[in-house]
Amino acid sequence: MLVKILSATIYGIDALLVTVEVNILNGAKFIIVGLPDTAVRESQQRIDSSLRMIGERIPGKRVIINMAPADIKKEGALFDLPLAIGILAANEKLESNMLNSTMFIGELSLDGTLQAIKGALPATIAAKEAGMERIVLPVENAAEASVVQGIKVYGFRKLEEVILFLRHQIEIEPTPFHNNGMMANTNSRDSDFADVRGQEQAKRALEIAACGSHNILLIGSPGAGKTMLSKRLPSIMPPMTEEEALEVTKIHSVAGYMENGIGLITQRPFRSPHHSASESSLIGGGSIPKPGEISLACNGCLYLDELPEFRRHTLELLRQPLEDREICITRVHGAVKFPANFLLVASMNPCPCGYYTHPTHECSCNEWTIKKYLAKISGPLLDRIDMHIAVAPVEIDKMAQSDEIIENSATIRERVIKGREIQTYRFRNDKGIFCNAQMDSAMIRRYCKLTPECSNLLTRAVERIGASARTYDRIIKVARTIADLKGNEKIAPAEIAEALQYRCLDRNNWGDR
Ligand SMILES: Nc1ncnc2c1ncn2[C@@H]1O[C@H](COP(=O)(O)OP(=O)(O)O)[C@@H](O)[C@H]1O
Ligand SMILES: [Mg+2]
Ligand SMILES: [Zn+2]
Repeated sequence: MLVKILSATIYGIDALLVTVEVNILNGAKFIIVGLPDTAVRESQQRIDSSLRMIGERIPGKRVIINMAPADIKKEGALFDLPLAIGILAANEKLESNMLNSTMFIGELSLDGTLQAIKGALPATIAAKEAGMERIVLPVENAAEASVVQGIKVYGFRKLEEVILFLRHQIEIEPTPFHNNGMMANTNSRDSDFADVRGQEQAKRALEIAACGSHNILLIGSPGAGKTMLSKRLPSIMPPMTEEEALEVTKIHSVAGYMENGIGLITQRPFRSPHHSASESSLIGGGSIPKPGEISLACNGCLYLDELPEFRRHTLELLRQPLEDREICITRVHGAVKFPANFLLVASMNPCPCGYYTHPTHECSCNEWTIKKYLAKISGPLLDRIDMHIAVAPVEIDKMAQSDEIIENSATIRERVIKGREIQTYRFRNDKGIFCNAQMDSAMIRRYCKLTPECSNLLTRAVERIGASARTYDRIIKVARTIADLKGNEKIAPAEIAEALQYRCLDRNNWGDR
């Protein structure tokens, strides 16, 4: 008997429908057609073993399995469950009125346990769009799948339970969606600016970065608090919209990084890949492409600690996603795009020994080694960074600051949200532009008209530090955000002057003795 079961395979951060057709004829061979990879072939063992656990087996006849469409590469073990169900049904061991209206995805282990799979969220979206009434999947994937409205999600632990369910021998409730009001409260308590003593200037710079989505570089000696400050940046960014949260969740779902029980990721991601990370783990890749760190950081922060330690080639690979806010990975089977809209926050020591500019500790580098060290990052990436700030270690007396006078992240975020609302309004007719950092030259001319006074101040300063025209634009963008934070429509000299402070690497004298 010919049976068709609906399943799905992951493509980028979306799922494509796959129909698993099973037919059992006279003969004695097990055949799978439709470009299965090795994982699909291996699944024969798991399916047979799982079926034996429930007193069944792959029939010793000619079992023909066709996975359609044939021209897409299908990955993985998520076809175990639809194959097992299809074989039972084709062998007339399973009758159910639900087979036509259900998508099945799930990996089986040898004892018939269902194992969590990657991409349950996009698969559920595809099932719903295909008009399915329900999806049956491993229980660990039920929470993320439940995010999709308009389709019933059933999570199971064992193949046996799925069969009892399909035969109406057990009743179970679909997994409800628990939003937990999470969109409103997106900050985890363990990384709040309330923990950071002193550092008012650095905090101020990060507030501006969060508001205008400006990439930022922190330069300071070891222990100055660069990592501590950077980690807290997501906590002052505006809450994610539902659309952003769904995008983040899809990316983490296909990467297999969903924490059990979490339906929708509502906290902005913070990813901090080590400088020794491989290019494919950073950018994304693999024979069936998986999102890399730059995509896992989407709608949140990508933190590159010890920036000069990254290989130059790796840094160059970041240019395109920084520009386009997505990454295109080309493979034999076609190109896959992953979103990569992240805020870059990077940190580095001021010199090879780490103590140049330190108030008390002696620096052992010479001018030449410092310039050489800086040259490592200039060009490719520095060009995409709006703000660079020096972070000095917090003064000892500030360490004794009482908790009451330190602003927490929620308070800072209120201001950021207000400043962001102004930008949303400003760019309401500019498609794909949401914040000041994304402005091109034409937009800068349109939205950041400078008074002669501001323009003079800026020109003189740029000449003095010997910076480029690009730098000029970057300073204006940051000044625009500072004015937005104040709720001012016009950019005043004070905003230009402040924005100039956040360009410490432009000064040609860095490293001078
Ligand atoms: N301003 C500060 N307030 C409170 N603790 C701080 C501050 N600066 C540094 N620290 C402490 O010092 C530790 C080291 O800071 P870290 O962020 O790792 O420095 P860096 O990344 O610059 O080397 C932090 O984990 C924190 O415990
Ligand atoms: Mg650090
Ligand atoms: Zn040094």
